[in-house]
Amino acid sequence: MEIIRTVAEMRAWRKQAGKLAFVPTMGNLHEGHLKLVAAARARAEKVVVSIFVNRLQFGQGEDFDAYPRTFDADCAKLAAAGVDALFFPTERELYPRVRQDFNVEPPHIQDELCGAFRPGHFRGVATVVTKLFNIVQPDLACFGKKDYQQLHVIQAMIADLNSPIEIVPVDTGRAADGLALSSRNGYLSAEERAEAPRLYRNLSMIRDGLLSGSQDYAALENAAREDLAAAGWTVDYVEVRQADTLEIAHAGEKRLVALAAARLGKTRLIDNIEVFR
Ligand code: PAF
Repeated sequence: MEIIRTVAEMRAWRKQAGKLAFVPTMGNLHEGHLKLVAAARARAEKVVVSIFVNRLQFGQGEDFDAYPRTFDADCAKLAAAGVDALFFPTERELYPRVRQDFNVEPPHIQDELCGAFRPGHFRGVATVVTKLFNIVQPDLACFGKKDYQQLHVIQAMIADLNSPIEIVPVDTGRAADGLALSSRNGYLSAEERAEAPRLYRNLSMIRDGLLSGSQDYAALENAAREDLAAAGWTVDYVEVRQADTLEIAHAGEKRLVALAAARLGKTRLIDNIEVFR
């Protein structure tokens, strides 16, 4: 696996790569990332992964400094997974000017769901993904459904800006007890880790309610919020939305997604389940 640190080298490497699949990450890789790599591998001649902890998408008081940097372990996993190149730029390489004046501004959805609790987060994501796309110039890029709102923002950006890059959504990797795989699971104490699957269990109950015909989304959301709060979680949101647009869901909707974000101790966990009925 080649390790590429500069924009110029990345562009030169890309020229000889043929059909290229891209997996952008912030490192601290787990099985969920390797599922993205496998999806990329199956669709292209060459696979490039990036590792870059993007300051722009972290808010004040969030975990930018504490975010785990595990470069050597990540490299071993990527090499074993057959990745052809790792793009590992410095902050200065990706943000060459002191100020970042031009940003990619997502539409109103950036202020809802996770965006309501993480102001500026999706602007930071859309901006860095655009920069990475401009540098790597892949034919396709794989994103996990665990970050459902992020996936939606990227898909909308690609469509609205007529980008030629195909976005491949990849199902969420889960532990045996249902917990969605996430780099932030590493922050959980043993006790919190045992409690964490409650988030998925509540989303599963919402799914079951929707599949059995319930149109009372608010009742399903409230039951989940109450169960989480009673178990000591701080709930940011539990919402049933339209799966394709993430707009408010009305009764009778067929393609839905139940999304939740809640804090267990200091760790913020997110998850979602699509429900097509
Ligand atoms: O999902 C992530 O790890 C990040 O948000 C991404 C897409 C790599 C952009 O920094």
